[in-house]
Amino acid sequence: MSPTTRLEDLEDEATLQLDAKGNLRHLLTLKSLDKALLTEMLDDAERYLTAHGSLPARSRSLVGRTIANLFFEPSTRTRASFDLAGKRLGADVLNLDVNTSSRKKGESILDTIYTLQAMQVDVMVVRDASAGVPAYIARNVLDHVCILNAGEAEVSHPTQGLLDVLTIRQHKGRFENLKVAIVGDVRHSRVTMSVSQGLTTLGVGELRLISPPALAPDPESVPGALIMDDLDAGLEDADVVMALRIQRERIGNLDGIPGIDEYFANYGISAKRLEIAAPDVIVMHPGPMNRGIEIESAVADGAHSVITQQVTNGVAVRMAVLDRVGRTLAAR
Ligand code: CP
Repeated sequence: MSPTTRLEDLEDEATLQLDAKGNLRHLLTLKSLDKALLTEMLDDAERYLTAHGSLPARSRSLVGRTIANLFFEPSTRTRASFDLAGKRLGADVLNLDVNTSSRKKGESILDTIYTLQAMQVDVMVVRDASAGVPAYIARNVLDHVCILNAGEAEVSHPTQGLLDVLTIRQHKGRFENLKVAIVGDVRHSRVTMSVSQGLTTLGVGELRLISPPALAPDPESVPGALIMDDLDAGLEDADVVMALRIQRERIGNLDGIPGIDEYFANYGISAKRLEIAAPDVIVMHPGPMNRGIEIESAVADGAHSVITQQVTNGVAVRMAVLDRVGRTLAAR
C-alpha cells in the first residue's frame, strides 16, 4: 500500500478528521471544517497569546501525552512551533531526526509510524513532500492516535492557514468586505490552499490570487477566487497582501518562470507597489522569505508588515490544535 492522491481519497480526508461526536481527531485540511469550529480554534489560540517580554502561556493539559514531530521535509517555523507548543502544554515531545532515522535504511513510512505508536506516541505531526501522506497515516493508526498535517506537498498546510486567518482577524476584525491578495507561486503553495479554504469559510469579501501564468493555480482548486496575472490590478485597494516564495523544490520544469530580476519587477512586493493597496494594508509572508525576489526588505521589515506576528501566532495556534485533539483523546 502506498500514499495516493486520488480525488476520492482527498474528499474522504475531509471527513476522516472528525470523530463520531464531531470532535477534531486529526487535522488534515481546513476544507470542510465549518465556520463555528474554525472560529472556536481561533478563539482558543488567542487565549495562548501573551505580551512579548512576559512569560509565554503554559498549561498542563497534555501532561502524560507524547507528541512526535516527523518532518520528512525541511522546516524552521512549523517544526519549532509544534515543539514549543507541545512542551508549553506539558507533553513529552520527540523530534525524530529523519536524516538519521531508519527510513534512510529503507523502512517504510508506516513501519516508522507503527514503531512510534508502539512507544505510546499519542500525536504525530507530519510533514511530507507527497500528497496524501497525512491521510494515509491517519487511516492506518490506532484509534487513540491523532495525526496533524504540518505541510503536505502543494495540497495543504492547515495550521499555517489558521495562523494566517488569526493574524488577519487580529488586524481587521472581520472577513466580509475584505480584499485579500496572495501574490507569487500560487500553483505550488499549500499555504494558499489552506488560507483560501479558511478565508472562504469565514466569508472573505474578495480573494485575489496573483501570479505569472506559469504559476497560476487550477481554478477548480480554489473555488471563488479571482485568478489574476497583473499585480497592480491585484493590489488595488487590497486590505491584506500575502507574498509567497517560488517553491523551486516543487517545480520540475522552470520553463515559463521569469528570472529573478524580471520576477521582482513584475511580482515583487515593493514599497512603491504597496502604495496601490489600501492605506492600512497588512503585509504577510508565511516564510521562508526570499528577500529581493518576492518581497523587498523595506516591506518585510516595514510598518505594514505582520510577518513576525504570524510566527508568534503559529505557536498559539499549534497549542490550540494540540489541546483540542488532546481533549478529543481524553473524551474517548
Ligand atoms: N511557513 C512554513 O511552513 O515555514 P517552515 O517551512 O519554516 O515550517
